[in-house]
Amino acid sequence: MTDASGPRFPLPEGFLMGASTSAHQVEGNNVSSDLWALENEPGSVIPERSGDAADSFHRWPEDMDLLRGLGFDTYRFGIEWARIEPEQGHVSRAAVAHYRAMVRGAVERGLTPLVTLHHFTSPRWFSARGGWLAEDAVELFAAYARTAVEVLGDDVRYVATINEPNMLALIHAIRRRTAEQGRPSPAEDGNTGGVAFDPTAVEPDPDVTATLIRAHRAAYRVLKEADPGYQVGWTVANQVYQAEPGAEEVAAAYARPREDVFLQAAREDDWIGVQAYTRHRIGAHGPLPVPEGAETTLTGWEFYPEALGEAVRHTRQVVGDGVPVIVTENGIATSDDERRVAYTERALASLVAQMRAGADVRGYLHWSALDNYEWGSYRPTFGLIAVDPATFARTPKPSARRLGSLARDRHLPCDGVDRPQHTPVAAR
Ligand code: BGC
Repeated sequence: MTDASGPRFPLPEGFLMGASTSAHQVEGNNVSSDLWALENEPGSVIPERSGDAADSFHRWPEDMDLLRGLGFDTYRFGIEWARIEPEQGHVSRAAVAHYRAMVRGAVERGLTPLVTLHHFTSPRWFSARGGWLAEDAVELFAAYARTAVEVLGDDVRYVATINEPNMLALIHAIRRRTAEQGRPSPAEDGNTGGVAFDPTAVEPDPDVTATLIRAHRAAYRVLKEADPGYQVGWTVANQVYQAEPGAEEVAAAYARPREDVFLQAAREDDWIGVQAYTRHRIGAHGPLPVPEGAETTLTGWEFYPEALGEAVRHTRQVVGDGVPVIVTENGIATSDDERRVAYTERALASLVAQMRAGADVRGYLHWSALDNYEWGSYRPTFGLIAVDPATFARTPKPSARRLGSLARDRHLPCDGVDRPQHTPVAAR
């Protein structure tokens, strides 16, 4: 493993250092959600079901203790609409109390909570009546945001309304297309975890795009009216569309509906969440495959840590300088934790380069705190902390200690840091 002796960049005051999870991926038994229904229907197209996940619904105190003990100061976690409103109009007081206890638990441990209201999954009843295409979808989501204020109280500063709305809109497009063709729909999967999903292959559903933007703006208003101190934003999947020479226009045309329209919608927000993992090269005729011989990860993505810096630069170009950036996800699916360390150090160095160039970055939250349910499969392990699927025992990996020590020392590695030599290896 790399040591921490390379050049280091002192973190600005208040910079958030932590890790992220989402409710469905770690809680387990999210039985009132649409995805649970899909996972468990006979002949499901989803290869593996979420089941108990990491049992964080019960084990969240241990998760938070571990993160704090490792040196982190921030925990991004989700609250689940399907638990809070398992039937339309019925608010589960027990679920509200559960999430309220999590918020308090984070604060009491010295962790800043960053709370996501919606991370891919919706209540079954919401999807059954048309999901984001239903006429009153925006009002229903705004009402849920109003209920969520009870969870947030005075303790939460950072709120993310909808995770990766651009992926949600793509998923709807795929569902619509497959439904028209009479084939089963793929999982509500932002990525390629269990169900092959190529973000460059389809265009987001424009109706869903418009609705998600309205839902975000409505939730923003609800939250700010409840407490102007809430810092509200949303988190966008940055695909880092890289133009091959001469393909600049083609790449820009890819980015526009899949990413930029969602970034533009953040211009009035309090912050914008950047989520970056890899790049997508675009040639004159569209997307190109991963370069021959390139190292790939357990999700089949190219090992390309510099995606983070490029995503921040692109975000800044589109959103403008008035909106600070929080990196709300960045990480790698690998069973070789040394590659996670190497990936993270290079990603952080690319982030620092952008900060030096003037980007207003307020935090770095690694994906993921725990090995978890990667939308259809447990095989791609993104976690800083390993989870035993039978006992749920948690074991921090060396990468967790390394990143935690950077958080504790308030430094990031920057350019010039020793980069471990490696030979490209296919699909670890
Ligand atoms: C999603 C996460 C997912 C991660 C890795 C992001 O698109 O927000 O839920 O696990 O990428 O695939």
